[in-house]
Amino acid sequence: MPTLNWIGKEAVVKHHQEVPFRLLEPVPDLACGVDTGGNLIVQGDNLHALKALLPRYAGQVKCIYIDPPYNTGQDDRGADGKRAGWIYNDRVESPEILEWLGKVVGAEADDLCRHDKWLCMMYPRVRLLRDFLRDDGVIFASIDDVEVASMRLLFDEIFGAANRIGVIVWKNATDNNPTQIASEHEYILCYAKDKRKVPSEWKASTLEIKTRLLEVGEKLINEHVDQSALQAAYTKWYRENKSQLWPFEDYKFIDGGGVYTGMRSVHNPGKEGYRYDILHPVTGRACQQPLMGYRFPEESMRRLIDEGRIIFGDDETKLVELKVYAKDYRAKLSSLFELDGRIGTNEIKAIFPEDKRPFDFPKPTELIEELLSFTTSGSDLILDSFGGSGTTANAVLKLNRADGHSRRFILVEMKDEIATGVTAQRVRRIARGYTSAKGEAVAGLGGGFQFCRLSPEPLFDAEGQIRRDVTFAQLAEFVWFAETGVGYTGCADSPLLGVHESRAIYLLYNGILKDRSVAGGNVLTGTVLDMLPKFAGPKVIYAAANRMGGRAAREGITFKQTPYALQV
Ligand SMILES: C[S@@+](CC[C@H](N)C(=O)[O-])C[C@H]1O[C@@H](n2cnc3c(N)ncnc32)[C@H](O)[C@@H]1O
Repeated sequence: MPTLNWIGKEAVVKHHQEVPFRLLEPVPDLACGVDTGGNLIVQGDNLHALKALLPRYAGQVKCIYIDPPYNTGQDDRGADGKRAGWIYNDRVESPEILEWLGKVVGAEADDLCRHDKWLCMMYPRVRLLRDFLRDDGVIFASIDDVEVASMRLLFDEIFGAANRIGVIVWKNATDNNPTQIASEHEYILCYAKDKRKVPSEWKASTLEIKTRLLEVGEKLINEHVDQSALQAAYTKWYRENKSQLWPFEDYKFIDGGGVYTGMRSVHNPGKEGYRYDILHPVTGRACQQPLMGYRFPEESMRRLIDEGRIIFGDDETKLVELKVYAKDYRAKLSSLFELDGRIGTNEIKAIFPEDKRPFDFPKPTELIEELLSFTTSGSDLILDSFGGSGTTANAVLKLNRADGHSRRFILVEMKDEIATGVTAQRVRRIARGYTSAKGEAVAGLGGGFQFCRLSPEPLFDAEGQIRRDVTFAQLAEFVWFAETGVGYTGCADSPLLGVHESRAIYLLYNGILKDRSVAGGNVLTGTVLDMLPKFAGPKVIYAAANRMGGRAAREGITFKQTPYALQV
């Protein structure tokens, strides 16, 4: 197998283990709603944020989507040192990451080229991400030409080449600049935690709605011979069911071929396309041409008109559209995906009408929805550790609204001004509703989130002792993770944290037995044992000390001393 090497690799391959565990500190003022539905936005470097999230979420995430800096080499500072380009740093040059590289890689960090730096930054973060996935979980990662080769080898190393599910090519742009090869796409890599546990076929969660639409269409076609009666019957049904038709809410028409919609895909996006006249079938006058002309040459357009695939308006003033049947709706996640990348920018501008440039190059929500609709459902957890403008959260809330499921999201964003001013603000607006740039009220999608920052100090102090302000619930999560390797889902309101693989796990800490004295109830004695919730099988008890002598073994107790037994 080919492997990947770069300057600095040795210093970072095990680094994820050395990162100290910090605590998640809720910031209620930045949260959205009281019932947050299990959604979370964390502000902080994702290396530390992921480590802090691990005790709660290890092994529980169904789908990770990441959109890391592409490392394109574009500098985002002008000569005056002020931001001239992107709101976030597209290279591995932000002060936080440079400081981190200096500490982790040492003096060698000064000699790293930007590609070495990028790999040093990515390796421990992707390595940690792997620990979040469920056995049937998958990760998608966006990247472009600059680092795609490195990213693929990096993922092969961390996830195993056998767990590579595929690579999606996203055609997101039209580049008519004079160049050798016009760059009009980027990539999305997809890997599984364990490919054998992932279903052999992915079906979009929107497929049920498509099936319903096809059934209704077929029934009405059988019942009505006359086209206008058929359309009237379908319009009636469509109006009654519109709220449940996403993503088919534009499929307003029907003919003998089935339910269909009109798409502007005959119009050329971006630069100038083909120019010719199409005569309106009723008025006989030339139809108005799209701003940038047509996408296809005249010959192809004539063929589409002859096949009845072109939709005309009532007169020549309406732009023609392509007829697209619901039966042709994508039901598979294809390795080719075509969607204009500028949609993302338009979306964010509509949500932030007061800001000319709220965020550079956010992904279109539809792109992430597409990935999630094939891979998540129910209350699945979705993680995005390069949160940016919050597109992933937007996609989760939109999908939930459409199919009634209750997927949850966790987003991490390093930059404070982005996390508070863009990520959280966008999600708050789309959850609650907002007034768009056009002054229209946009209804909220519902949902909310908790907002957290990372504790400046780690869980353990420099002497390895548990920090005094750590609560029982915080330590419980950590103990559970250290003992089981999976995230803690209990409520930490009893010394019996739960039962894992037939053994009960207990924690004595911080007066959980209602004794508020400093060491009160934190030491395992015979009296304390009698007060603990009973369990008939083997027991693991974490406590500050054990004063039970031989009775502990007779009672089937494995004693583990805090904090020393917690060095994971
Ligand atoms: C390419 S943007 C993501 C855009 C996002 N997908 C969207 O649609 O808005 C990358 C984001 O990751 C953030 N970022 C970069 N390094 C990070 C790190 N170490 N931890 C957390 N966030 C980071 C940047 O500040 C930036 O907002």
